Amino acid sequence: MKNQAHKLTEIVNEERNSPSKTKFITITSGKGGVGKSTMSANLAHLLSQRGYKVGLFDADMGLANLDVILNVKTGKNILHLLKGEAELKDILVQVDENLLLIPGDSGDGIFRYSDEFILDRFYSQIGQLDELDYMIIDTGAGIGENVQNFVDAGDYVVVVTTAEPAAITDAYAMLKIISDKKDQVFMLLNQVKNRREADTIYDKIKKIAEKNIPNHGNISLIGAINKDTSVEKCIRSRTLFSKEFKNSIPTEQLNEAVDVLVAKMERKVLNPKEQSNFGSFFKKILKQF
Ligand SMILES: Nc1ncnc2c1ncn2[C@@H]1O[C@H](COP(=O)(O)OP(=O)(O)OP(=O)(O)O)[C@@H](O)[C@H]1O
Ligand SMILES: [Mg+2]
Repeated sequence: MKNQAHKLTEIVNEERNSPSKTKFITITSGKGGVGKSTMSANLAHLLSQRGYKVGLFDADMGLANLDVILNVKTGKNILHLLKGEAELKDILVQVDENLLLIPGDSGDGIFRYSDEFILDRFYSQIGQLDELDYMIIDTGAGIGENVQNFVDAGDYVVVVTTAEPAAITDAYAMLKIISDKKDQVFMLLNQVKNRREADTIYDKIKKIAEKNIPNHGNISLIGAINKDTSVEKCIRSRTLFSKEFKNSIPTEQLNEAVDVLVAKMERKVLNPKEQSNFGSFFKKILKQF
């Protein structure tokens, strides 16, 4: 018994001391324009406000635009780093004390990059990101291969949808694919009238999923965010609604979703072998594992 307790302490300590403890949360959607980037940026902000060290990686290969949302200037991006044309410190943008932006490339260049020699340098540089608690990955929409790569490489996935029928249909297709690969898939309903509307939609999705998705039990709703003018206003003024309107309903709702998300993530003990850092994440993206 004493031995077992000792072993347990050792494991706990090992985990605490482990440099690779970043949780990777991929934010995606079936349909475009549902609010992935807005929610990614605000989710990252709220997590950073809780004292976590957070990275926000702009992985929308079609239209990397987190710099616009966050109102920051970016120079070189992840592709330059991969190619050895920039150092990590040249591409990182410190948004806030606990929040870093990792600018992405608007193109699929990173997937075609595989120069072994330079990649070694890349992996040694990005080791500096190991101290992050969370990495939020904002992807593009759809079931295309590039987006799925980011879904596969992440530890957790949040599928964002609005209440619009076309968005729900596309989100459902996404949930079906992801629930087959991941033991947890989170759904975030955005731009709803109220929580009741979100619950009704979720109940309908669940009923259809129970009949048609083998691993429907992996899917859960983490929250619902109202459609609100404060969110639109902040997008226009390039500020974060969770920062500008701390007491608004959308901020309160996103905070509740963060509570649920953090609790669910903490409940799942990742196998040490599964633990990720930016290096292992990228190895998966570049299929080098
Ligand atoms: N809760 C909300 N209330 C009001 N407007 C919202 C809300 N969430 C998002 N929007 C609006 O929806 C628009 C699209 O948001 P956003 O760019 O975040 O979507 P996206 O899913 O990242 O799009 P894309 O697929 O093009 O990357 C923005 O103009 C934003 O103002
Ligand atoms: Mg976007």
